[in-house]
Amino acid sequence: MSEGKAKQLFTTENPNEILVHYLNQATALNGKRKEHVDDKGIVNNQIDSLIFNYLDAHGIATHFIKQVSDSDQLVKKMTMIPLEVVVRNAASGSFQRKFDTPYLLEFEEPVQEFYYKSDRLDDPFINDSQIHALKVATAEQLAVIRDQALKVNSLMKKLFAEAGIKLVDFKLEFGIDADGKLILGDEISPDSCRLVDAKTQQSLDKDVFRKHTGNVMDGYRTVLDRLQATVAE
Ligand code: C5P
Repeated sequence: MSEGKAKQLFTTENPNEILVHYLNQATALNGKRKEHVDDKGIVNNQIDSLIFNYLDAHGIATHFIKQVSDSDQLVKKMTMIPLEVVVRNAASGSFQRKFDTPYLLEFEEPVQEFYYKSDRLDDPFINDSQIHALKVATAEQLAVIRDQALKVNSLMKKLFAEAGIKLVDFKLEFGIDADGKLILGDEISPDSCRLVDAKTQQSLDKDVFRKHTGNVMDGYRTVLDRLQATVAE
């Protein structure tokens, strides 16, 4: 078993598959702040499973196999590429701080950023030539990652818009599966996305936990309820 910030990973009888258990745990500051949050694992597993099913159905190659219980899912085992791929549709978080822009300033085209995954280094920003120099990914892999991340953005923007939610920004991770194919992995949930109510701009994601502005689960449950209603239509 190995444990991440909000998930535990277990090997299975099939060497190419991994069982992911979602924990009732929220972290901030790269894991330096950690708290128990009732029901978070169940809600995030359901949101993530719904989104990965939706992406699969729309032609994105992902690690997702199936949801197996309230807080568990089966995924393909992958060798992860140590990159966090951030896509932004509007200014918030580190972008807003870095460039001192108005909150939710709309971008004409999505912004893409890469961060090198390293707890020790606090996930530093990394550009294309640094990625090549450090052999983090090949130019071909990077082109696929850029293209897939933008496709995921278009699909998720539409899905969330139908649910009355604005997709502000999010983070993706990619890896190589047992067949050598580059596919989307990790998690997509309000832990890794900024989501605001399209009408009120109320925050429905982990910013509520990061900034201590209320009960983080209120927003997560709203996201799940609205996504379930949208895909059921
Ligand atoms: O903090 P920043 O504005 O750079 O984050 C951009 C997006 O990436 C946010 O949606 C945030 O939740 C996500 N992110 C993440 N994991 C990290 C860093 C950022 O999921 N380690």
